[in-house]
Amino acid sequence: MKKRIGILTAGGDCPGLNATIRGAAKAMYQRMGNEVEIVGVRNGFAGLIEGDYMEMKESDFSNLLTRGGTILGTARTPFRLMTVVEADGVDKVASMKQHYKTMGLDALLCLGGNGTHKTANLLAEEGLNIIGLPKTIDNDIWGTDVTFGFHTAVDIATEVIDRIHTTASSHHRVMVIELMGNKAGWLTLYSGIAGGADIILIPELPYQLENVLEAIGKRNAKGKTFSILAVAEGSMDVEESTMKNKERLAKRREQNVHGVTERIARDIAKHTGYETRVAVPGHIQRGGTPSAYDRLLATEFGTYAAQLVENDQYGVTVALRNNLVVSNPLSEVAGKKKLVTPDDDLINVARRMGISLG
Ligand code: F6P
Repeated sequence: MKKRIGILTAGGDCPGLNATIRGAAKAMYQRMGNEVEIVGVRNGFAGLIEGDYMEMKESDFSNLLTRGGTILGTARTPFRLMTVVEADGVDKVASMKQHYKTMGLDALLCLGGNGTHKTANLLAEEGLNIIGLPKTIDNDIWGTDVTFGFHTAVDIATEVIDRIHTTASSHHRVMVIELMGNKAGWLTLYSGIAGGADIILIPELPYQLENVLEAIGKRNAKGKTFSILAVAEGSMDVEESTMKNKERLAKRREQNVHGVTERIARDIAKHTGYETRVAVPGHIQRGGTPSAYDRLLATEFGTYAAQLVENDQYGVTVALRNNLVVSNPLSEVAGKKKLVTPDDDLINVARRMGISLG
């Protein structure tokens, strides 16, 4: 029996989205031949709400393995607004269900991060056949050891740290590098260790300025004339960790800083007198071609999703556990986050290396 399968990519883009789409599509054509039709939904759930989609053919999935971003386009459509009817009067959930039906879909693959998984679960609860695929450079999706896009971002962030090393040492500076990760510090922890950062600050482990200053002082006492800090954008100090988001932002406005890295750099310069600079690679961390690891993972995940379609297994998301590709129920994944815990093995590695965690 013919199956019509929709694919969408939602949330922030990241390397490996196209490679995953390719993996799923090629495996579906391979196994199901003319019995499968693929529909590309544009711009994530926004496209599903609006009924914006395109009929795809087999050749559309060529030359995608190395291509960054997503050929389907993406958008952030916050989960908290999915069930809210806004000024435009559109009932988003009803609209998505209606368009799923008018597109004639038998199933929908949703490639995305935490927000995407919440909406994917909502749609599954509404009776649609949904399969999730875990992407994000934050690596914070519950139930999978790794998400596609993460390791490419680690490679990029590590290269940033490597390159900043040369300026830090030549100019005898303290360099504060702001890496992506609002809630999860995985990217900063991995790249910080891989890039040989001296101090790593992540949102899960609030820092104390004295500890940061002490770490810089210790390096100086050993004759090291520069220091490198890898700081996740969502990091906070101990006092801020007890505050609500709004209060924290208000405090930073009062301090006249845009973000945590700016404040840390200012504090270090003030207390040590060292020349200090901030570097923010920003979206470069999400850009461009996926690494070999991510191409492989994307292909494994994509082909596994194709198998789920073939076997009519829905309401699940693909995951990697102990080096095996498996699936987890969407209901178990939605609304949870995989964050760095104080006893994580890499935290121990950092401590053994004498890296300050603030
Ligand atoms: O979730 C991926 C991510 O890159 C985060 O690390 C970052 O905080 C956020 O997206 C940035 O979002 P945007 O691209 O919408 O500015």
